[in-house]
Amino acid sequence: MVGSLGLLASACGGDDGDSGGSTGGSGTALEGRGPITFATGKDTSGNLTNQVAAWNSQHPDEKVEVKELPESADQQRQQMVQNAQAKSDAFSVLNLDVVWTAEFAANRWVQELPADQFPDLGKLIPATVDTAKYRDKLYAVPVTSDGGLLYYRSDLLKAAGVEAPKTWDELKAACTKVQATPAGKGLGCYAGQFEKYEGLTVNFSEAVNSAGGVVVGDDGKPNVDTPEALAGLQFLVDGLKSGEFPKASITYKEEEGRRAFQEGKLLFLRNWPYVYALAGKTDGSSKIAGKFAVAPLPGKAEGGVSTLGGHNYGISTFAKNKATAADFIKFMSSEERQKANVEKTSQAPTWASLYDDAALNKQFPYLAPLKASIESAKSRPKVVKYGDVTVAIQEAAYGALTGTTPPKDALTALQTKLSTLITQ
Ligand code: GLC
Repeated sequence: MVGSLGLLASACGGDDGDSGGSTGGSGTALEGRGPITFATGKDTSGNLTNQVAAWNSQHPDEKVEVKELPESADQQRQQMVQNAQAKSDAFSVLNLDVVWTAEFAANRWVQELPADQFPDLGKLIPATVDTAKYRDKLYAVPVTSDGGLLYYRSDLLKAAGVEAPKTWDELKAACTKVQATPAGKGLGCYAGQFEKYEGLTVNFSEAVNSAGGVVVGDDGKPNVDTPEALAGLQFLVDGLKSGEFPKASITYKEEEGRRAFQEGKLLFLRNWPYVYALAGKTDGSSKIAGKFAVAPLPGKAEGGVSTLGGHNYGISTFAKNKATAADFIKFMSSEERQKANVEKTSQAPTWASLYDDAALNKQFPYLAPLKASIESAKSRPKVVKYGDVTVAIQEAAYGALTGTTPPKDALTALQTKLSTLITQ
């Protein structure tokens, strides 16, 4: 898989014609010390303030000011791109979604990083490090990973005598069974992220991959107009059309789905690991603490395939105080900080060792299914024009989900669009 991504990246690369292969060119000097800013999407984990405070207390002359951006990945990207296009120094360190590396690197909006200054990279899950590279060069450091999980109401499944589902048919059968019990009356069956934004690209890709299809094949070419991809899309379309998935889920991003699940309105929810800690809170904010568990995503004939998510910290090309920025990234990606973050938030670490830590596994039973989810996860296309690619996917999927476009037509049109965008 890694090889195919490399192929894609070079087929769709920017204009840098990098024949020299040097790592220490003029663009890589990380100089200057002093206060910096950290631009990041809305902190849904609730622990970022603690992490940044730990840095600030140790670095009184190099304090980090958090610039909190919107919750939606697309809106975060938009603000970061606008800043970069204006060559503004307002953002020093950027919390980059794993899918933006190629675009930010090819446009030289983020600084190339000298890999030898980040010796811990070898200890991170290799797939996460791959997301931070473009044309074999490093542009960011992975701080959190992400893999999709199936959250389910363990209390209700147990009472109905049903196991956690491995397939979509089993999932629907479980819903029917639980909804027939008094406790399951009126309960929504399943929701994911179906609003028209990056989360829909994630959920669409997972449905396609979990039915044996691909969005982009191992040869780097789009191949989405297939019976397998159609079966995947159909799972989502049918669920919404029949009312098995609550109508409101078409407006769900991560947080809306989390709230519905925590309010006890859903039997199953596809979401990221950060939800585990929040849904388990016993301070009254979650009605289902102690009543849920997680399993790998289900698929059409067997277990499903997650889309690889996560975030990497990079340095804006236009930033001041880049030496401080590099040290802040080292600090935030360190094993110690990541462990502290797992203990508070259930966000997925990028350090492989943390998944094998016996004490942590005992305390956080989601770590084993999460590691499996991340290790078998598929990446989204690693292309410079990712912004256009994801909009094309979102439009196709949303058209089908809202009943505007027949699913087969949506896939045929998407194939045509992606072929233009990805071979350029
Ligand atoms: C999470 C993932 C990210 C993904 C986004 C979609 O933040 O880590 O990779 O793009 O969700 O909403």
